[in-house]
Amino acid sequence: MNYRHAYHAGNFADCMKHALLVWLMRAMGRKEKGFAVLDTHAGVGRYDLAAVPAERTGEWRAGIGRLAGATDPALADYLALVGELGLYPGSPALIRALLRPQDRLACCELHPEDIRPLRRAFRDDPQVAVHHRDGYEAIGALLPPPERRGLVLIDPPYEAGDEFVRLVDAIRLAHRRFPSGVVAAWYPVKSRAEARGLHGDVAAAGIRDLVAAELWLREPIDAGRLNGCGLLVVNPPFGFAAAAGEILGALLGRLGNREMGEGVGVEVVCGE
Ligand SMILES: C[S@@+](CC[C@H](N)C(=O)[O-])C[C@H]1O[C@@H](n2cnc3c(N)ncnc32)[C@H](O)[C@@H]1O
Repeated sequence: MNYRHAYHAGNFADCMKHALLVWLMRAMGRKEKGFAVLDTHAGVGRYDLAAVPAERTGEWRAGIGRLAGATDPALADYLALVGELGLYPGSPALIRALLRPQDRLACCELHPEDIRPLRRAFRDDPQVAVHHRDGYEAIGALLPPPERRGLVLIDPPYEAGDEFVRLVDAIRLAHRRFPSGVVAAWYPVKSRAEARGLHGDVAAAGIRDLVAAELWLREPIDAGRLNGCGLLVVNPPFGFAAAAGEILGALLGRLGNREMGEGVGVEVVCGE
């Protein structure tokens, strides 16, 4: 396991994923009944962008660094949370901030070093369970939640050559075990063919209510680069496609470099 999220925290891909995650969490909270969140690939929880790993790549400067002072209404909720939470908040910190007393979070992290700060962050928190385990395996073990309402965030590092295959299997398994659950899976867009392949493979598994929200910084001609990223959402809450379009449009306005092929797209892959 070579991937460490501390080198990439706050980059454009994190901003995209986290701004959409905040919207999804608010949508889950529209109903009074409690819900459970499973964050399969959690990272360490919060990131010091002045520390060596983040400074070494400087990726955050082209991400959250460019959003300071942004007043776009579509980004207001996400940016207010980032401001309130201090160090740059990863998915577990953002999710935790939006849990109500009746909700709970289970997060998984496999890296032997990254699990320690994650454990420390939630040591005395009765609403958060931290698991040092394979997040893919946890989908089979922890779903469905007793609440029968929930959100599963799948955010793997894509270090392994077969990560897209594992992702499709994981989405299928999550949907089979928990058909009404909302599943949000982040993926890199290196080439359009790979992203279309992912959508097609998930749709071919018989999943009918599926939306893909993507942000592209440039035409994905060089498949060796992270040209954009996407969030594939199964059972999106009402209003997701429209809200995602606004959020991604606002992000692109701040993070785009006017390169050829930059843009956003929200596609209903498979209507209900
Ligand atoms: C992209 S980062 C997660 C970032 C986090 N979700 C966020 O938004 O702040 C992926 C994380 O997954 C961890 N990881 C890799 N393989 C894993 C697995 N099979 N199960 C659980 N965690 C894994 C890595 O150590 C890394 O911390």
